[in-house]
Amino acid sequence: MLSQKLQDALNEQINKELQSEYIYLSMEAYMLENDLDGVANFFHVQTQEEHFHAMKLYNFVIDRGGKVVLKKLDAPPVDFKSVIDVYEQTLAHEQFITKSINDLMDIAIKEGDHAVISFLKWYVDEQVEEEANVTKILSKLKLIGGEGHGMLMIDSELALRVFTPPAAA
Ligand SMILES: [Fe+2]
Ligand SMILES: [Fe+2]
Repeated sequence: MLSQKLQDALNEQINKELQSEYIYLSMEAYMLENDLDGVANFFHVQTQEEHFHAMKLYNFVIDRGGKVVLKKLDAPPVDFKSVIDVYEQTLAHEQFITKSINDLMDIAIKEGDHAVISFLKWYVDEQVEEEANVTKILSKLKLIGGEGHGMLMIDSELALRVFTPPAAA
């Protein structure tokens, strides 16, 4: 059985993943409003990934005989200044999530719950990828100043992103 402390922390993480989905859904809307359909697609795939992250935790809590307790979501940001601003907020958010995963891992280690430690390793690796992806796009956006012909090229590039659920997840 999961300890109460770990169960609470895992439920908090489910909330953070669903909150991430909600934030990216708002960013997707901003991109659609600005006719950046490719960037909107990037955020749509991001919402699907975050939903997957939440459900993977949700199913894990159930598998361990725990109780899933869903919590309230906050209203996501709606007033963005630019595409660059959105990606800066995305990077800051992913860094916050990485810290949260690390804190969760610290609790699992302190409690010696090896199943949780093993389970969370996937999230540790996933966060490396998340931060790297966003950092790369942000660098390109800054290079072109987030506008003009370069922006159209990035928009076309991001239109190609598809959600692929990890096979053994
Ligand atoms: Fe996530
Ligand atoms: Fe994420």
